[in-house]
Amino acid sequence: MESKNSEKAKESDGDSAFEQVARAADIPIYAVMAAFREDPSPMKLNLGFGVYRTEEGKPLLLNAVRQAEQLLVNDLSADKEYLPITGLPEFNKLSAKLIFGADSPAIKENRVSTVQCLSGSGSLRIGADFLAKHYYQHTVYLSQPTYGNHPNFFAAAGLAMKTYHYYDPKTNGLDFQGMLQDLGAAPSGAIVLLQASGHNPTGIDPTAQQWEQIRQLMRLKRLLPFFDCAYQGFVMNMDADALPVRMFVADGGECLVAQSYSKTMGLYGERVGALSVVRH
Ligand SMILES: Cc1ncc(COP(=O)(O)O)c(C=O)c1O
Repeated sequence: MESKNSEKAKESDGDSAFEQVARAADIPIYAVMAAFREDPSPMKLNLGFGVYRTEEGKPLLLNAVRQAEQLLVNDLSADKEYLPITGLPEFNKLSAKLIFGADSPAIKENRVSTVQCLSGSGSLRIGADFLAKHYYQHTVYLSQPTYGNHPNFFAAAGLAMKTYHYYDPKTNGLDFQGMLQDLGAAPSGAIVLLQASGHNPTGIDPTAQQWEQIRQLMRLKRLLPFFDCAYQGFVMNMDADALPVRMFVADGGECLVAQSYSKTMGLYGERVGALSVVRH
């Protein structure tokens, strides 16, 4: 009784139960955005955020997106019913087709499971949680450097993180030997996060021949590829940028694929994405 009373007293004395929660640190890129907005220079260019802009620096809505929105508005059969727990089935089907290819044997053989997620971040987070729960190896290898949020997704899922060499400052290119060495030394079954195209933050991607060597080594060592596809279509085109994913799928092995439509379709605020698991 006494302790109940003292709890009551604590509730009523105005103290928040969340008083000890520390405020999260500001994200540096948002500070750059604010500084950009305030800078009066007519010559200013913001290269910080990866978003489409018009010549006047205004947000750009792609024509295809505008047309799709018109179709939706005019579709009187559309309703707002609850979706299945895995999301909109037609979206999942088309999303898988976009990354694996229309003729993908994995899709035809029913070896792909796709779930709608909250953009690239949500897909990576759900993928990380899925692996923590259902996969035997709990170490994930990230490129050095990598997208700043990657460690957050895997740390939240409780996975251990290691890095593999990726950027060589001497050549301003790929440290391919370093990458192969690190992946070659990884424990069997380890998860390897790979960016399919338009590597963030370096902009450097392996060539098709290098991807083939990476694939051979990873399959030999039974490493599990987890592809992050946030920039499909940005480097060459939709199909060419999906090449590494399709190479890994074509060998019949397993992988995870996170897709983001933030950059690919300029849908930053809509949080559109998908996670696919390809099985044997
Ligand atoms: C490599 C990479 N992966 C994932 C994401 C997250 O994507 P989204 O903004 O769709 O959550 C980004 C965003 O910049 C990214 O650059």
